Amino acid sequence: MKARYHPIAEPLHLANGLQLKNRIVMAPMTHSASHPDGSVSDAEIKYYARRAKGAGMIVTAGATVTLKGGFPGQFAADRDELLPGLKRLARTLKADGAKAVLQLVHAGRKLPPSCSEVISASAVADEKQGASVPREATEAEIVAIIEAFGNAARRAILAGFDGVELHGANGFLLQQFFSPHANRRNDSWGGTLEKRMAFPLAVIETVKRVVKQYAEQPFLIGYRLSPEEPETPGITMADTLQFCDVLAASGLDYLHVSLNDFWSLPRRGVTDERSRITIIERRIGHRLPVIGVGGIHSAEDALLALQSGVPLIALGRELIMEPDWLEKIAEGREEEIRTTIKLGDQEALAIPDSLWKSIWAMPGWFPLEV
Ligand SMILES: Cc1cc2nc3c(=O)[nH]c(=O)nc-3n(C[C@H](O)[C@H](O)[C@H](O)COP(=O)(O)O)c2cc1C
Repeated sequence: MKARYHPIAEPLHLANGLQLKNRIVMAPMTHSASHPDGSVSDAEIKYYARRAKGAGMIVTAGATVTLKGGFPGQFAADRDELLPGLKRLARTLKADGAKAVLQLVHAGRKLPPSCSEVISASAVADEKQGASVPREATEAEIVAIIEAFGNAARRAILAGFDGVELHGANGFLLQQFFSPHANRRNDSWGGTLEKRMAFPLAVIETVKRVVKQYAEQPFLIGYRLSPEEPETPGITMADTLQFCDVLAASGLDYLHVSLNDFWSLPRRGVTDERSRITIIERRIGHRLPVIGVGGIHSAEDALLALQSGVPLIALGRELIMEPDWLEKIAEGREEEIRTTIKLGDQEALAIPDSLWKSIWAMPGWFPLEV
């Protein structure tokens, strides 16, 4: 490895005692290749086995905490009968020393109208064309979903994962409760900024209780958020910074900031001209390690991102296109890193059919070489 890239390979000690072998995280990426009952498929195991050698931590595709709250083809973690598949997945991810983190999610209003039941904080649809109009969740449903996150975390522990990541980003249910667009409630779950935090905080508390009860080894609880929403009303940087202070004091192990462009600037809510990730990382300070993500492709990109002060960098699409990303840097072959994908790559890259089809059906998503 070239000396200038050593910061990428530096281990990171986390406060709960776990150590990550380097600064690269595989970002959570849904591949929609699970069996119809939500159990892990062979195609998924092959996909992860191909990518398990490099990153210090691998966050799985989102696993739904209730069957009704998930998309077809998505991992599920809502029943104990799914444990054998989840165990196999955790073993695959950990085979070469990566820490394995199961992402937990409820889709809320992101589910398509064809789903039998779509619930959210309030009966307000996403502004995207064709979005579902959800039903406002009842108090009993909210409590049940909080418990479902706890039960899914218990399964992650029993399956041998090193942690869970609560998916509060990209418009999913945890974000919907924090969003003034999706959450128009006037009860204990909405109405003020503090009350919009109540659902994510209740989920964190429940998962912490479960970890205390069941984990016999250090177990990570991470939280992923999207710092801003484009809609009005919508989450602003000012909201997110207040949320960050509360999250930093809530006993989490890391904060994952979901961005498409690591260096993107705030849309509104602050006069600060620094990038969103820098503003958040400085606000959090040493209270929690922060993960940054978005458009990091080359070793040089990752180095620059780490030099911004963010201790962990996640790679998404890049690790789909180049499973040997870290290996190539370790061997001084970083110029051989592939940053495009071409027809004929599917088998060598062990990409499940469903994901492969989506990659080619959505031009502009991946850099395609035709
Ligand atoms: C195929 C695919 C599936 C994704 N699924 C998830 C997901 O399940 N959970 C999540 O938090 N983000 C998901 N994302 C977002 C990525 O984690 C990441 O934030 C995004 O791709 C930007 O990083 P990149 O530029 O390195 O790809 C997905 C992205 C891709 C490309």
